[in-house]
Amino acid sequence: MNISIILAAGEGTRMKSKIPKVLHKICGKPILEYVINASKNANIEKNYVVVGHGGEKVKEKFKDSHILFKTQPIGDEYPYGTGYAVMQAIDHIDDNSNVIILYGDTPLIRDKTIKRLVDYHDKNDYDGTILTAYLEDPAGYGRVIRDDEGYILKIVEHKDATEEELKIKEINSGIYCFNGRQLKYALSKIDNDNAQGEYYITDVIKILKEEGCKVGAYVIEDSREIHGVNSRVQLAFCEKVMRSRINKRYMENGVTIINPENTYIEPSATIGKDSIIYPGTIIVGKTIIGEDCIIGENCRIENSKIGNKVEIYSSNISDSIVDDECMIGPYAHLRPNSHLGRNIKIGNFVEVKNSTIGDNSKAGHLAYIGDADVGKNVNVGCGVVFVNYDGRSKFRSLVEDNVFIGSNSNLVAPVAVREWAYIAAGSTITEEVEEGNLSIARARQVNRDGWVEEKGYKDNK
Ligand code: UD1
Ligand code: CA
Repeated sequence: MNISIILAAGEGTRMKSKIPKVLHKICGKPILEYVINASKNANIEKNYVVVGHGGEKVKEKFKDSHILFKTQPIGDEYPYGTGYAVMQAIDHIDDNSNVIILYGDTPLIRDKTIKRLVDYHDKNDYDGTILTAYLEDPAGYGRVIRDDEGYILKIVEHKDATEEELKIKEINSGIYCFNGRQLKYALSKIDNDNAQGEYYITDVIKILKEEGCKVGAYVIEDSREIHGVNSRVQLAFCEKVMRSRINKRYMENGVTIINPENTYIEPSATIGKDSIIYPGTIIVGKTIIGEDCIIGENCRIENSKIGNKVEIYSSNISDSIVDDECMIGPYAHLRPNSHLGRNIKIGNFVEVKNSTIGDNSKAGHLAYIGDADVGKNVNVGCGVVFVNYDGRSKFRSLVEDNVFIGSNSNLVAPVAVREWAYIAAGSTITEEVEEGNLSIARARQVNRDGWVEEKGYKDNK
């Protein structure tokens, strides 16, 4: 049995935030979620998260994710340190299980790296295996001290290291795999006699070694995986690495991303083959995009379902459905609960909210369609407004198939316009328009003969 203990009790002071550090997001998900997922995907059956600062918020956020929580007491009267954090879960460690220690603030760690660490640990029959990395700039990290033959001796924290030790470039990632029995034994022996007055999990290595246990190190291939988030700058770094991984996956699945550096797609989205995503586009939540679409530039699409062969430019879409072959934008806005049928054109400066629109209809320019059911083959002219709000309540409008709504008309809801009706430009419709009728609802034009002359305006020029 493999169990993980994910440390997440630290305060994260350098984030300068009201939010617990591990709830800060990269690519739309809390950083802790990536660690939990990596652990679960590495076949670790039981996952304990040690929380402390902001623990209640963390527990609330992950209450449905089959995680076991342990709370580390925080305050001046309590000890502190990674060793003390691991001790919080000590009662749950079986003698014969592998215990994998992870940090809640290292979201880039991959499941396959955890798997390899555990395999390496098992294959070599180690009692403790450290995941290490070689860094050009190892400052701040604990250094891995080996003897002349390359065997691990101990880990020394940066603050406790000698001049010579500080030159070592092999660092402790903070991720380990331990044999349960040996870990419990070593934890009972650690103290806080060090530069920081903390209980260090790293001391477990030295203790195991002194007990004649076998200790090893698995060197990670890609050291970016162990990057922690301690500041907003590091948060942005992790976001960038994660973004490139996510975008790579979409590209490997047949999606063209013109510039992956500035295209922001959350991993929860699905995008079909041969769709092309242009720069500046943000796709978030449970969005599904079909095949052969052109999305971009500068679109934001959230929790929406987009069909095949849809083109969307510089537009915002949220919580809506767009069927095949629609053309949207530039500068259109589909607000929640809108459903466009097939082959619809929603052009520049058109807003649609809580409305359904039937196949082949068009609203090319400058319109507001709110709380409406619009049929098929309807033409919504430029400047048409569905007047859905009287200052207190919202009302719906019904526009049946094949209706033509002339430019700059208002449909004051609740109102119905029946099939094949025509509405003259500039009309304000307040009553039902019957099938096949032409409705003109505007003041008649008056032309005054010779009016300018009468006023003498031309003489004064
Ligand atoms: C630790 C290691 C260091 C390693 C580095 C890698 C120790 C003593 N040192 O140092 O060798 O190179 O990680 O990043 O382990 N935490 C708790 N409770 C605590 C203290 C910490 O849950 O009482 C959590 C933190 O939230 C954090 C993680 O443990 O996620 C690491 O703690 P941190 O203080 O950042 O350790 P480092 O000093 O960076
Ligand atoms: Ca750290």
